[in-house]
Amino acid sequence: MGKIKIGIVGTGYIGNVHGRIFARDDRVEISALYDIILERAEMASKAVGGKVCSSRDELMANCDAVLVCAPNKTHKEIALHAIAEGKHVFCEKPFTIGAEDAKELRDAANSSKGVFQVGFNRRFAPVYQKLRELLNSNRPHSAHIKMNRGELLNPEWTGDVNVTGGFLYETTIHLFDMMRFQFGEITELNGYGSQHEYPELDEFSIIFKFESGFHCTFASSSDASWHFPFERIEVFCHHRTIMTEEMERLHDSKGIDPNFDTHSFHMFEKEEKWGYVQEDRAFVDAILNETPPLVSADDGFRSVEIVEAVYSAIRSGESVRF
Ligand SMILES: NC(=O)c1ccc[n+]([C@@H]2O[C@H](COP(=O)([O-])OP(=O)(O)OC[C@H]3O[C@@H](n4cnc5c(N)ncnc54)[C@H](O)[C@@H]3O)[C@@H](O)[C@H]2O)c1
Repeated sequence: MGKIKIGIVGTGYIGNVHGRIFARDDRVEISALYDIILERAEMASKAVGGKVCSSRDELMANCDAVLVCAPNKTHKEIALHAIAEGKHVFCEKPFTIGAEDAKELRDAANSSKGVFQVGFNRRFAPVYQKLRELLNSNRPHSAHIKMNRGELLNPEWTGDVNVTGGFLYETTIHLFDMMRFQFGEITELNGYGSQHEYPELDEFSIIFKFESGFHCTFASSSDASWHFPFERIEVFCHHRTIMTEEMERLHDSKGIDPNFDTHSFHMFEKEEKWGYVQEDRAFVDAILNETPPLVSADDGFRSVEIVEAVYSAIRSGESVRF
């Protein structure tokens, strides 16, 4: 088999991150780039190679696998196009906006022969791999989770709810997926939200209950600050607290022992520390080995379902049961 030909749709920030990573993988070649702003594709091509295409059709004709790296609201249409052309698809988060679209894309992805992987990079980040390893031997009882941002200004469209689908789709969805990865399926949630800085709900407090009996609180603000750690999971087990700090480190403290272990990941290069390198490698592995992707369309669908349930709980003032 020759090299897998990769096409990138949307060559902004994350398109270039993936482009640089795939450009270093001998099993693939970057063959095609498409962006509605032609100069962006031209710039990316200088850095990572690939034919600059003037349409999505031209891109499809020049690749085996498509990376969907354009803003949120475009994901469904681009991903469906790629599936219809028989391509493998790597779709950045959010999977889609809205439960109906999520169902449509999930069904299309599940009936396609190609690999379909969703860009929940954090699952591959060493800090969250370590947390999962520790939770294998320490049953978690409850947790407190936080995921904040300092602004919705960069890129500019992150403040436009018509493009993002809402702050929960843009940012918080990462840790909604992470909860499923670490703690299993959610059965019930209750949420409160308010609006302050932006023309949408921008501050959230949520309580989740899980199939296993596990439960947690979750805070997420889009207009707090980038104060470290903007992202943190504190898990409480039997006489044990395990706490993550962004992708940087994990503290593991046992009972009344005044010492605690720290696992630090700050020496990793950013693209590996955040799991991008590993998720891209896993995508190629799944294509070559014909194995299921590690983050599936069903995972994408479930993450959208959780976002929708939180918005619905806030609107109705009632808890949502799955
Ligand atoms: N997994 C992660 O950690 C992560 C990080 C950043 C962004 N993302 C996601 O990736 C996507 C892109 O984000 P970004 O930060 O790279 O944004 P960006 O604005 O830097 O880049 C998006 C690019 O897509 C282009 N574009 C817009 N509409 C298009 C279309 N219909 N067809 C082709 N190109 C189009 C834009 O011109 C731009 O160059 C978003 O959905 C975002 O949520 C994920």
